[in-house]
Formats: sequence, C-alpha cells, structure tokens
Amino acid sequence: MMGCCWRKAVVYILMIWLQQCCFQSVAILDPLDFLALQSIRKSLRDVPGSNFFQSWDFTSDPCNFPGVYCDSDKVIALNLGDPRSGSPGLTGRIDPAIGKLSSLAENFLTGDIPAGFGELRSLHTLDLSYNQLTGSIPRPLGSLPVLSNLILCHNHLDGPLPSFISNSLTRVDLMHNNLTGPLQSDSFPPSVQYLSLGWNKLIGPVFTTLPKLNRLNYLDLSMNHFTGLIPCQIFTFPISNLQLQRNQFFGPVQPDSQVTIATIDLSYNRLSGQVSPMLSTVQNLFLNNNRFFGSVPESFVDRLMDATIQTLYLQHNYLTGFQMNQTAEIPLSSVLCLQYNCMVPPTQSACPLKAGDAKTRPTAQCNEWRG
Ligand SMILES: *[C@@H]1O[C@H](CO)[C@@H](O)[C@H](O)[C@H]1NC(C)=O
Ligand SMILES: *[C@@H]1O[C@H](CO)[C@@H](O)[C@H](O)[C@H]1NC(C)=O
Repeated sequence: MMGCCWRKAVVYILMIWLQQCCFQSVAILDPLDFLALQSIRKSLRDVPGSNFFQSWDFTSDPCNFPGVYCDSDKVIALNLGDPRSGSPGLTGRIDPAIGKLSSLAENFLTGDIPAGFGELRSLHTLDLSYNQLTGSIPRPLGSLPVLSNLILCHNHLDGPLPSFISNSLTRVDLMHNNLTGPLQSDSFPPSVQYLSLGWNKLIGPVFTTLPKLNRLNYLDLSMNHFTGLIPCQIFTFPISNLQLQRNQFFGPVQPDSQVTIATIDLSYNRLSGQVSPMLSTVQNLFLNNNRFFGSVPESFVDRLMDATIQTLYLQHNYLTGFQMNQTAEIPLSSVLCLQYNCMVPPTQSACPLKAGDAKTRPTAQCNEWRG
C-alpha cells in the first residue's frame, strides 16, 4: 500500500516537474473544474443500455474523458451522451441530422441539467443535445462568461429561458423542448448569430427583443405561440434562413428595402395586408395560410419566370390576382402554389397535398373578408 502511494507521489512530482520544464500545454485540471465535473457526473446517469459514463474514471485525467475538452487546465467544451462525443476532437454542433439516426444515437442521459455547469467558468461549448434531460435550464448557465455555443436541442426541458450574459455567445440551439414564457429583452446578447428556439411553447411578442440581435444569420422561432408584429428590421439582418412559421404573428409584413434572405417561412400565422414587392427577391418564400389580400405584385411573376424564385407558396390566403401570361410557362425548377385564394389560380399551380383539393376559397368567405 505504502509503496504504491509513494510511487504515485513520485509520479506526480515528476509530472509537475515535466510540466514546468517541458510541456507547458500539459496541465493538471483546475481543482474547481475537477470538482464541478465530479458533481456533473454524479447528477447525471446513463439509462440501462447506455455506457457513456463507464470510462469516466476520476483517478485519471478528466480531460481525456469522452466528451470533455480542455485547454491547458480548464474545461472549455462538453459534449455529453451524444454519440458524436465518441469522436475525439469534435466539439460544438455537427450536422444535427446525425442525431436523428436512432440506431446510432445511444444518447440517454436523463435527469436535470446539473447546476455544476455554472462552475466551469471557461466553458465555451456545451452540447447535451438529443438526450432525455428534464427540468429547466439552470440560471447559472446564463452567467457563464465565455459561453459561445449552447446546444440543448431535442430534450424535454421546460421552464423559462434564463438571461445569457456572455458577449461571445454565437450559437444557441434549444429546439424541440418544452420551454415556456416570453423572450425577454435581455434573454440573448447581440453577439448571437444562430438562434434556434423552434418547437417549444414560448409566448409573447418579439418586437423588442429581435431588433437588437442584428448579427443573426439563422433564426428559427417556428412552432411556438409568439404573437404580435414581425419587426421589419430583421429583414435587413444577414440572415440566410428565417423560420417563423406556425405562431400567432399578426399584422402586415412590410420590409423597407429589397430582402435578400434566401429562405423565409412565415406560413401558418395571422399575417395580413398586401404582399410586399420587397419580398420578391427571396428564393423560397412561404406565405401560405395567412390573411394576405390584394393582387400579388408583378415583380413576383417576373422573378418566377426567370427562375430566381424557386418556391412561392401563397395558398390559403385572400389574394385576388396574379398577373401571369396564360401562355407563359413556369420554369421546371420553380414551384408556385396559389390554391384557395379569392381568384382562379393559374393552371400550372403546383401545390403540396396539404393545400387540399379546393382550387378557390368559397366566395362567401372572400366577400365577408372584403367587408
Ligand atoms: C412536452 O410536454 C408534453 C406534455 O407534458 C409532452 O407530451 C411532450 O412529449 C413534451 N415534449 C417534449 C419535447 O419534451
Ligand atoms: C404572352 O407570352 C407570349 C409568349 O411568351 C407572348 O408572345 C405574348 O406577347 C405575351 N402576352 C402578353 C400580354 O404579355
């Protein structure tokens, strides 16, 4: 026994000496991070059949544990329970589609997110996606000073969003949970570029919060209960994909200038007013299942014909005109659906099955709408 301990001590002294003299990059994990990891380990568990934590043996260096990534003596990234953490060197979010391959995904972490994460002050990436985590997002996570990637999508988290203070926060993916409550004006710092909150139960208006997040390049708020106006500032952000469908947004959508976002989905809301010509530069535009009325601007027809518009879904609104030359042909690469409006759609209209069989909206509804 004695001999063994002595040998250990000698090894440690040797290691410390080696570190100081030769390998500056090899460091013993900061004791605070070590304790935090231990408490995290204690509060999560594998469900039967999963053995993610099997190799987490705290008598060896935690920086070598699967899913733990260190920079000198600090934990900087954690990617737990996800099969992706089996591959050393991968941090942050890889193609989320991999998590959908259920045969690959032995990610069965259950329980609450341990508050211990809040102790890892150097943590910049936390990926606990595609697990079975419950409870709310601990508030201390919001106070991590250098957090830049927070990936908690596809769990069963509920409760409100904490406020995130890190000015390096760029990627937030909380999609597919049961989060509730409103988006606060200080929920996210303006550094956020990728924000995915889709498939939750979030409520309330967004027009005080979103205009501040002017570095967004991806925004998904779909499948929530957001209400109010869509702030027109967001159409000037460097966004490539805007997903606001299936909420309760209402009012007009009138961007101030020509919109260059590649894909915009505003379908299944309560939006109204005329379709803005500023949206005719969008490649894939989904405005279906709203309350838009009036005639569709000619610029849409032109861009559809020269194939710069790929998808134009306008079905299930109250539109009254689409000035298309009957002899002209929509390019094969483009899709137009105009079904169930207050007009007879062009014969070439190509609709998804969900749009139903009815080509036009009943006249009574159209008259009622016009007052
Ligand atoms: C959200 O909660 C409902 C009702 O409790 C439940 O049926 C559903 O599976 C939950 N969804 C997620 C993603 O946890
Ligand atoms: C309709 O298109 C045809 C063929 O492209 C063209 O000859 C004709 O002048 C067009 N008619 C109108 C009203 O633009």
